[in-house]
Amino acid sequence: MPSQPKTMKAIHYDGPFKVSVKEVDVPKIQHSDDAIIKVTTAAICGSDLHMYQGRTAAEGGTGLIFGHENMGIIEEVGPGVTLLQKGDRIVLPFNVADGRCQNCEKGFTAFCTGVNPGFAGGAYGYVSMGPYMGGQAQYLRVPFADFNALKLPPGKEHESDFALLADIFPTGWHGVELSGFQPGETIAVFGAGPVGLMAAYSAQLRGASKVFVVDTVPERLDAAKKIGCIPIDFKKSDPVKQIIEKNGGMVDRAVDAVGYQAVDASGSKEKPNIVLDQLIHVTKPTGGLGIPGLYVPSDPGAPDAQSGKGQILLSFGKLFEKGLKLGTGQCNVKAYNRQLRDLITSGKAKPSFVVSHDINIDDAPGAYEKFDKRIDGYTKVLIHPNGDW
Ligand SMILES: NC(=O)c1ccc[n+]([C@@H]2O[C@H](COP(=O)([O-])OP(=O)(O)OC[C@H]3O[C@@H](n4cnc5c(N)ncnc54)[C@H](O)[C@@H]3O)[C@@H](O)[C@H]2O)c1
Ligand SMILES: [Zn+2]
Repeated sequence: MPSQPKTMKAIHYDGPFKVSVKEVDVPKIQHSDDAIIKVTTAAICGSDLHMYQGRTAAEGGTGLIFGHENMGIIEEVGPGVTLLQKGDRIVLPFNVADGRCQNCEKGFTAFCTGVNPGFAGGAYGYVSMGPYMGGQAQYLRVPFADFNALKLPPGKEHESDFALLADIFPTGWHGVELSGFQPGETIAVFGAGPVGLMAAYSAQLRGASKVFVVDTVPERLDAAKKIGCIPIDFKKSDPVKQIIEKNGGMVDRAVDAVGYQAVDASGSKEKPNIVLDQLIHVTKPTGGLGIPGLYVPSDPGAPDAQSGKGQILLSFGKLFEKGLKLGTGQCNVKAYNRQLRDLITSGKAKPSFVVSHDINIDDAPGAYEKFDKRIDGYTKVLIHPNGDW
């Protein structure tokens, strides 16, 4: 590949609250099924913040390059790749999957047993998720490219919408799916970060009668209101009571799009069980809970010893009494991304309403800081590592 440079810029994890733009080697084809893309867009995710804050097993200064929400143009393909060619525009599920293990065959690509043995599933640029470099970089190696790539129409149209197919649009949709949602039902979504907003938007697209969205960040609650949801500020009073009062009873479904770093009514003190417990209390008997929010088996910065081991205290008796169903886990992006791409191209979905900032790779360290503090309206940041957008 004579035109390709030898080194490139990439976002490197230096340690808690510190990422930097580092010059690293451009990835090479390592296996006949690989492809290399020139990254046009790589998003920063709320999941990256868990690593950024030092709340995972990720170690700084070890060469970890972030970025699991990636799209770009194919630069080179290995000899085993048959469905893709140089110049194709693709978006990648954050999951790296081999397409040939039993879980992949069943459609559970987030739980591929082949790409990251000993752990459930693989991903780009994420601690414990396998040796796959992240795409917050100018180039990215795509393993099992035929299986993992989703082809997009050529050109630049819908770039921000398509970028969200890598993770948050499918993940929000998945949260609603996991809850067992049916059209016409009522649903409460906890968390109005990008994933929560995508869950709320998916519920709207799927014909919810009422969608409640709980958070406290004003810009995020406003975004929920703009798509027709009922905003609930958890700092004002108990969100469960607010929802039951406004709805005239409990809701059919509830989604946790917050995860283990949930905070209590003070807005700053972490309480890992608060949202899960509220889900149980706000949902009708025989209703369902979707839990795409992340929970980890060990958390070095947990507020108490029990949750440090990933053990979360729940009103399980209430869950039993109500006969609630629940579903959780990483999203199998491939189960949804084609259909959601087609909703975007046909003009029926425009998930990019969540995007707050488009930036150059050099501005990424500052963007991490602001996104982490949830200030200046930083809701969803798209990095364009090769400039032009
Ligand atoms: N399952 C998956 O495949 C998958 C994929 C992507 C992200 N995630 C996870 O989903 C979660 C959300 O991701 P995001 O990018 O939207 O993150 P985010 O951090 O931007 O958003 C979380 C939101 O929750 C709000 N919040 C905190 N405590 C709350 C409470 N008690 N009640 C209601 N809201 C509360 C915060 O104010 C924030 O706006 C994260 O845990 C992330 O790791 C899971
Ligand atoms: Zn993500």
